[in-house]
Amino acid sequence: MRIEVVTLFPEMVRGALTYGIVGRALERGLLEVGTEDPRSHTSDVHRTVDDRPYGGGPGMVLKPEPMLAAIAAASARLPKGSPRIYLSAQGEVFSQAHARELAELPGFVLVAGRYEGLDERVITLGIDRELSIGDYVLSGGELPALVVIDAVARLLPGALGDERSSEEESFAEGLLDWPHYTRPEVYAGLAVPEVLLSGNHAQIRRWRLKQAVARTWQRRPDLIVRRGLSAEASELLNEFLTERAARGGARIEGDGNEQDHSGNQQAADEPQDPGLQAR
Ligand SMILES: C[S@@+](CC[C@H](N)C(=O)[O-])C[C@H]1O[C@@H](n2cnc3c(N)ncnc32)[C@H](O)[C@@H]1O
Repeated sequence: MRIEVVTLFPEMVRGALTYGIVGRALERGLLEVGTEDPRSHTSDVHRTVDDRPYGGGPGMVLKPEPMLAAIAAASARLPKGSPRIYLSAQGEVFSQAHARELAELPGFVLVAGRYEGLDERVITLGIDRELSIGDYVLSGGELPALVVIDAVARLLPGALGDERSSEEESFAEGLLDWPHYTRPEVYAGLAVPEVLLSGNHAQIRRWRLKQAVARTWQRRPDLIVRRGLSAEASELLNEFLTERAARGGARIEGDGNEQDHSGNQQAADEPQDPGLQAR
């Protein structure tokens, strides 16, 4: 796979790619990342890429000519039809599903904005899709581009030491991940759950699925509402809720301060009926 990043700060992008899983994917040739600087597509002495906004107001806008020339140069290094993606606070919110979709492609272009963003005609003429990494505004698209590259790189076959890692992570099955433990067995008085020491793989799998479904219900019920649950996961969630009620952990009317084990607040608006249906 080859990813091209159009950026005014190519060093920032290249520098961040040398670490960990992404760095190894680059070393192993599973991934190539190129950069294209719009400043190299300017002809004036100041290498101007931005200008004041028509209509007035604060900030500067990235000019069409150098941006479109840089996008074209980056696209020319990729298979024809590779999507050109603008990282933008106004885009669809990037998710694991987007990462999976992009990981199937031979390549794509990521365009990082700066200042007030791109002249709208760059988007009309040179962008196929806009992706946001969340509902907040950053000062540039480089960090979002790196987020997308990282999420995609770890899905490339051979990028992780153990392929099961990406299959078992949060969101892989529409659920959050289960809790993980390593040595020592007891730390600060907190013991590793016994089942994990039992060597019984069927019980360990069941415990992990139950933890994952319970966590998802507590922290991100929207994920369950969106995807539903398998029959087994639904049964385990009911088991968890029954046990919790028996422990007196059921929500008490008017008490919005119940904390779950992790410190997440189970507020008074905790889901009563998350729309659970077996998939
Ligand atoms: C200061 S922002 C521009 C914000 C723009 N005026 C707006 O209000 O949507 C500069 C650049 O940062 C990037 N950016 C900022 N927030 C982002 C986000 N949440 N997701 C993806 N890219 C973002 C975009 O590339 C954008 O062009």
